Amino acid sequence: MPDTETSFDKDRARAFTSRMLGILNDGALSLMMSVGHKAGLFDALDGSPPENSAEIATRAGLEERYVREWLHAMACGGIVDYDPEHETFQLPEEHSGLVTRRAGPLNLTVPMQNISLLGEVEDDLVDAFKHGGGIPYDKYPRFQALTAESSERRFRTGLVNQVVPLLDMDDALTSGITVADVGCGSGLASYLLAKEFPNSNFVGFDMSEGGISHASETAEGQSNVSYEVADAAALGQDERFDLVTTFDAIHDQAHPKKVLSEIFQMLRPGGTYLCVEPKASSRLEENIPDPMAPYMYTISAMHCMTVSLAYGGEGLGAAWGHQLATEYLTEAGFIDIKIEGIRDDRGNNYFISKKP
Ligand SMILES: C[S@@+](CC[C@H](N)C(=O)[O-])C[C@H]1O[C@@H](n2cnc3c(N)ncnc32)[C@H](O)[C@@H]1O
Repeated sequence: MPDTETSFDKDRARAFTSRMLGILNDGALSLMMSVGHKAGLFDALDGSPPENSAEIATRAGLEERYVREWLHAMACGGIVDYDPEHETFQLPEEHSGLVTRRAGPLNLTVPMQNISLLGEVEDDLVDAFKHGGGIPYDKYPRFQALTAESSERRFRTGLVNQVVPLLDMDDALTSGITVADVGCGSGLASYLLAKEFPNSNFVGFDMSEGGISHASETAEGQSNVSYEVADAAALGQDERFDLVTTFDAIHDQAHPKKVLSEIFQMLRPGGTYLCVEPKASSRLEENIPDPMAPYMYTISAMHCMTVSLAYGGEGLGAAWGHQLATEYLTEAGFIDIKIEGIRDDRGNNYFISKKP
């Protein structure tokens, strides 16, 4: 038994009480902020003068009673300013750059939607903790739509201007090469590149029929891009491509080593592989100081790791880290592995490597 008289640190206990209350309140606020994003409330408040709940509700086209309760939560959470004399609310300019659609990739209310999405599988996850296995993709009803929304901001701001220059393939893309995106989801990356480089040909592969049909609709009329439903672990595309990309699509694979060897196989000798994966270390202690680490491990356990385990996979998890990723790439045969980053995507590492 510990000597509670001498070893119990009351200050530490008090600090933890306050931390626990903060977690409870911030968890609740995450849900309300996700609602605010979906209902368009932050955009309605963006740049507006102080207004009461009726004025805000009218401008947003929403029910006043709900808007008022939401504003009260936002005021108590320090998200909006409240003037008790006039009963008006205002979104400070200093906050709008992180919560409005105008903020693009910096809008943190977009990933906040993951909190409610993942809440839907909480009971299934507890069951997996007890009995093993995992949660398959079809249990996440809004997964493709939310992934598409999160990636869209990154792709539209960074792909052509920041990612392509890392590859040093501008001339080749302009003259015309073949490019594949494996685990392409809703296919926006290939579509944007196809528009930018009309002489090159792009193919997106994903096992999600919903993702592929959304991708095909978006790219209708763009003749140099196509999409195929396919299992990345059995692509069988022999040495057809000059460039292969994966965006956030290796760590949640059931069989990542098999997928990497398929990617190696589908590249022509001298071809380039761009592998984008969450920025993390394979060592927990190096991730602890990262302010996004609790979020990363939560998303991992409740999605990335468990979808892999659901198909009898490795369950690498989102934080498999650059050390292990480098090992996997090397084992697959890739050489000249460089790890880069881009300004508008601080959460990912960009591994660029070559097939000899
Ligand atoms: C996190 S999402 C990323 C989607 C897209 N690359 C993006 O950044 O928006 C991972 C994607 O990998 C796909 N995926 C997972 N396992 C796969 C497999 N074995 N074969 C093909 N696609 C797979 C999923 O359907 C999902 O669309």
